[in-house]
Amino acid sequence: MTGSTPADPLDLAQDAGVFARASGHEQVVFCHDEPTGLSAIIAIHSTALGPGLGGTRFYPYASEQDALTDVLALSRGMTYKASLAGLDLGGGKAVIIGDPARVKSEALLRAYGRFVQSLNGRYYTACDVGTYSEDMDHIARECSFVTGRTVAHGGAGDSSVLTAYGVFQGMRAAAEVTWGSPDLRGRTVGVAGVGKVGRHLVDRLVEVGASVVVADVSTEAVARVRSEHPEVRAAADSSALGAEALDIYAPCALGGALSDEVVEVLNARIVCGAANNQLAHEGIEKQLQDRGILYAPDYVVNAGGLIQVADELEGFSFARAEVRAGRIYDTTQRVFALARQDGVPPAVAADRLAERRINEVGRLRAIHLR
Ligand SMILES: NC(=O)c1ccc[n+]([C@@H]2O[C@H](COP(=O)([O-])OP(=O)(O)OC[C@H]3O[C@@H](n4cnc5c(N)ncnc54)[C@H](O)[C@@H]3O)[C@@H](O)[C@H]2O)c1
Repeated sequence: MTGSTPADPLDLAQDAGVFARASGHEQVVFCHDEPTGLSAIIAIHSTALGPGLGGTRFYPYASEQDALTDVLALSRGMTYKASLAGLDLGGGKAVIIGDPARVKSEALLRAYGRFVQSLNGRYYTACDVGTYSEDMDHIARECSFVTGRTVAHGGAGDSSVLTAYGVFQGMRAAAEVTWGSPDLRGRTVGVAGVGKVGRHLVDRLVEVGASVVVADVSTEAVARVRSEHPEVRAAADSSALGAEALDIYAPCALGGALSDEVVEVLNARIVCGAANNQLAHEGIEKQLQDRGILYAPDYVVNAGGLIQVADELEGFSFARAEVRAGRIYDTTQRVFALARQDGVPPAVAADRLAERRINEVGRLRAIHLR
């Protein structure tokens, strides 16, 4: 999504009241269970198209205010993502505050599951940064509204596989617009963050003959990719990677990756990556456009994981979900075409397309059915 509008609650100072900050969201739930150490916030942004579905991020936020800011922005992004992915789902997201390496336990996850259950299907959860399919299995012992469980428990498993596939398709669409061909062979692609998604993306890129450079704050993550693909080069860090002579830059770590400083030195012609909320602030989408860099909006190209876990609600079929995720190529092209037609950056065009569907399809609920 593009940055916030001036009236947007996320722009308010962090000391504004929670109601002011959450304005525009349907519901925000604070969940606390002292014995297990659970402190979680579930945000439901919109259920205009269906129940809010979005992952649970388990992260050591510096403050509760930071956690609230993150969950509000992420849940809003899910509304737009689900809409453009053509799903009958709304936007929701949750954060658990704490270092998962230290505080995650079966009891904490099950306590969290009971809070999700109490929302009675208005919010479905899934994996995100810091949570894994095995965690969803624990949550599912207390709760029916869980996706992304392990395959052994009837789930869709690790959603990062199709997230990476969707990002790859978005890159191909962007390459088509930029160079007249979706072929990525011989293109130099920088992947910043080689965790669950970045790693799978590197696999795809290497497979089609792209030249890949990576960066990650975790030396183990870099070592793992390089042991699987010795031809992949490592940059010192994400900033150094962004300044390299790249064709495509793929932010696949945390949000806010496209800051003024990064965009100023970026050499790539295309930005297309998995991270949510890549634009550090409103106006960055315009700066990218002014520098001749084609930005494939984050929530358009990273919808593959949502498509994968949403498929679980119909009884998971990987083949069906993969076909749906493959359509991210066409959706990305539609976004670029509208951007050209309306003379706006692709991020603005994506918002317009998503809002159009929310209004057109969401309105139908006003037709009363017995
Ligand atoms: N997993 C999914 O299916 C999915 C779906 C949609 C969007 N996303 C988004 O994609 C991004 C990556 O998700 P993931 O599941 O791969 O998470 P992950 O935690 O497995 O991987 C993130 C990686 O980024 C690295 N990292 C963190 N800060 C960094 C920095 N400043 N510079 C370089 N590397 C850094 C971490 O060490 C880690 O290896 C997140 O923003 C997530 O919200 C993920």
